[in-house]
Amino acid sequence: MFDTSKRSNASDGWTRGYDLIMASDATLTVCTDPAALAETAANLIIDVATEAVRERGRFMLCLAGGETPRKTYALLARPEFSERVRWDRTWVFFGDERVVPPDHAESNYRMAHETLLSRVPIPPSQILRMRGEDTDADSAAAAYAASLTEVFGTRRGELPRFDLVLLGLGVDGHTASLFPGSPVLREVFRTVAAVHVTAAQIPQRLTLTFPVLNAAARVFFLVAGAEKAKIVKAVLSDQALLPAGMIRPTEGELIWLADRAAAALHPIGGAR
Ligand code: 6PG
Repeated sequence: MFDTSKRSNASDGWTRGYDLIMASDATLTVCTDPAALAETAANLIIDVATEAVRERGRFMLCLAGGETPRKTYALLARPEFSERVRWDRTWVFFGDERVVPPDHAESNYRMAHETLLSRVPIPPSQILRMRGEDTDADSAAAAYAASLTEVFGTRRGELPRFDLVLLGLGVDGHTASLFPGSPVLREVFRTVAAVHVTAAQIPQRLTLTFPVLNAAARVFFLVAGAEKAKIVKAVLSDQALLPAGMIRPTEGELIWLADRAAAALHPIGGAR
């Protein structure tokens, strides 16, 4: 399953962990703890942002929801990190949203706003949030798909290509709001869909679909905590057919950033 395990050259000095190159060309970076994970993630995000602005004039970032990214967003908002990002050349999108108002405690937008977006000089017009407050989730999904097309300037049949997509991992193997058994897993045309997830605390959700997520130049999974160890092993080692395992950028890089607790059951990741 794994070719080698090594410390990545490029990140010497600030990656507080080690890398494993997996047969699926994904990299698993195991960090000591959640703080090290957040620091490694923040530095990697800044590297991608710098390259994107240098090469394409702007940085197209898709944020993850849930709890795990909070530490990373809060760190990115600190001056010693945020001063290294061209926020004036950054556009922020969301991978999924719960169908709740933007000030609701369960809103992914609210989490990102409080920890990052309200603390950095990003033009408000460059923050594209999903309208969780809209009762008609299907039209909210269509509206978000239209904003992707407009901001990316994509033509018919062309997919928007994020410079970086951040994703989390649920204990059932879901990512964004792509849950096991959901019909949206087979979506091939729409870039954004409304989904109903009976098992979720907030069942009604909006989510980006696999075609747009797998069109990204880079995808980073942020995964922390012992409660994720079983699912990390299932997805990365046992190759269980779960939504998170179906994230395979077609022409892009896939990096799993996990803390030691989450990588503990991984045959190699946990053995160090
Ligand atoms: C959401 C997320 C979801 C999340 C996972 C992990 O809106 O719930 O987008 O996919 O990333 O559920 O969540 P935690 O980081 O809170 O464990």
